[in-house]
Amino acid sequence: MDIPALNNVPDADAIRLEARRLGLEKHLLELHTYGVTVIPPETVGSPDLIERMRDGILRVLADRHDLEVPDDWRTHSTPWGGPKIWCWLFEDEALIEAALHPVALCIARFMCGRSAILQGTPAIIKTQGTASRTNEEGYMRLHTDTHGVPSPLPEWAQLVNISWLLTDYNGPEDGPTVLVPGSQRFGRMPRGAEGDWWVEGAPIEPIPLTGKAGSLAVWHGSLWHGSRPRTAEGMRITLPYIYGRSYMQPIHSWTKALEENDNAKWVEKYPELQTVLGLWHPYPTDRDGPEAPQEQDGTRHMIGVGDNIYA
Ligand SMILES: [Fe+2]
Repeated sequence: MDIPALNNVPDADAIRLEARRLGLEKHLLELHTYGVTVIPPETVGSPDLIERMRDGILRVLADRHDLEVPDDWRTHSTPWGGPKIWCWLFEDEALIEAALHPVALCIARFMCGRSAILQGTPAIIKTQGTASRTNEEGYMRLHTDTHGVPSPLPEWAQLVNISWLLTDYNGPEDGPTVLVPGSQRFGRMPRGAEGDWWVEGAPIEPIPLTGKAGSLAVWHGSLWHGSRPRTAEGMRITLPYIYGRSYMQPIHSWTKALEENDNAKWVEKYPELQTVLGLWHPYPTDRDGPEAPQEQDGTRHMIGVGDNIYA
């Protein structure tokens, strides 16, 4: 019996068939079991895209902070960049292609439903001497990425972090994320000493994330994780893409971002952005009510301008 092929559960079947086609089923099982998986470059299958993303994000951050792009990210070993690390999606076409990558979208939809929305995009550049938000030495406390949601967090993911590793994570020396497999089931943020994982006698011992450049590191939005300082030379460059359920507050206002520059042209070139950026969503709205939105499968909601949607 091949359950996904029966087309009996529309919210799941197409995602399962797509995962089978892309060779992702093992990774779905790891996400379900441990709340974390690393999809290797050979499964992601886009080596050219990785180079373009790396070049693109370094150029964007250099422009924003009035800096030169380092001669060689493999050897540049002093803190570089600045605080303007968010909302770069429309600034390089490679970054849009990554947002719509079939492997990333399949995982996002498995974790957050077939109407999953890209919530936001930060960039992480780490070298020797980069401090974390929580520690001058560069250790980051354990936390979840499901910000603003009080406990108990449900077992099903509210959001998923799909991080493109643009440089190798070979071991602790590379300053990787550290993770607590299975902690997505705890249903809450770490408290007090639980977060300070690097302190002697700490109650929680996370594992370092490893993966080659070109991998996608994926974790459940409620998984406990932090990071450690980098001691190796060169840069760690990571682009997390945060996808969430369509009812979650997005990190960026995509409608506002699309009004800037000539960004609307990207929606014409990549119509799937309508879905992935949630441009179909009826909320937030104003006194005239939402436009009639259309679901991915063509279903048109019974909502139109001026309709009383609560009748
Ligand atoms: Fe995080």
